Amino acid sequence: MQKISRRLETIASMLTKGDVVVDVGTDHAYLLIVLMEEHKFTRAIGVDVHRGPYEAAIENVGASEYKDSIEIRLGDGLGPVTAEEMDRVAIAGMGGYTICKILKEYPEKTSRINQLVLQPQSSPERVRKLLFELGFGITQERLLKEDGKLYVVISALRDAGIQQPSWENLQIGPYLLENGSEYLVEYIGDMLHHKQFVLNSIRMAKKEELEKIKGLEDELERLRKLKKRYDN
Ligand SMILES: C[S@@+](CC[C@H](N)C(=O)[O-])C[C@H]1O[C@@H](n2cnc3c(N)ncnc32)[C@H](O)[C@@H]1O
Repeated sequence: MQKISRRLETIASMLTKGDVVVDVGTDHAYLLIVLMEEHKFTRAIGVDVHRGPYEAAIENVGASEYKDSIEIRLGDGLGPVTAEEMDRVAIAGMGGYTICKILKEYPEKTSRINQLVLQPQSSPERVRKLLFELGFGITQERLLKEDGKLYVVISALRDAGIQQPSWENLQIGPYLLENGSEYLVEYIGDMLHHKQFVLNSIRMAKKEELEKIKGLEDELERLRKLKKRYDN
């Protein structure tokens, strides 16, 4: 059995059974090897834009029992995958901006995806907003901690009913707001720190960004209130 990190284990557990799974930014292809071990898919496609990770993936798949069912392709985002191959797609370990760029690049392909499981390293609010815009409904979110760092994993389904993207729904996510998590208070706390840091940097630079400062102050206040609500 392939040994993988808790983060990848969580992503694997959130992908529901399907026909084909695509892992964009597959790197070592560990996620795909585990998914095939769990018999969740009949076929898997790993994509990586860099030659080093692409070759590492080919080597790992070659050494596994799944060389006939996992295919590794070199290229950018969903570029090397056809619309017909769209079913379940995982994109993990990249910034939220890059994930959004990948999802926006080929609308004709993205609109064919049944399930997306995304693990943004930053800007999850940007990812949630795009999911709403693309017509995906967030059906589950998990917070997990590994080596002292918090990660969020978002699962969304096409045609799952589009929730209204309120500010809270974008910042924290509708699923976590409703169902909570043992790490929710810490997650909001991290967000508060980050926004406070940005605000302090703008103030220190003495930039004339009054609107941005006001926006951040408002957001900090709303996050403090939210944190308080889940603190008890
Ligand atoms: C930090 S690693 C994450 C690997 C794995 N997904 C995980 O979560 O453990 C990011 C990988 O994504 C690849 N990558 C970055 N941008 C990409 C893009 N636009 N298309 C395909 N792969 C990309 C990088 O080459 C790298 O191998």
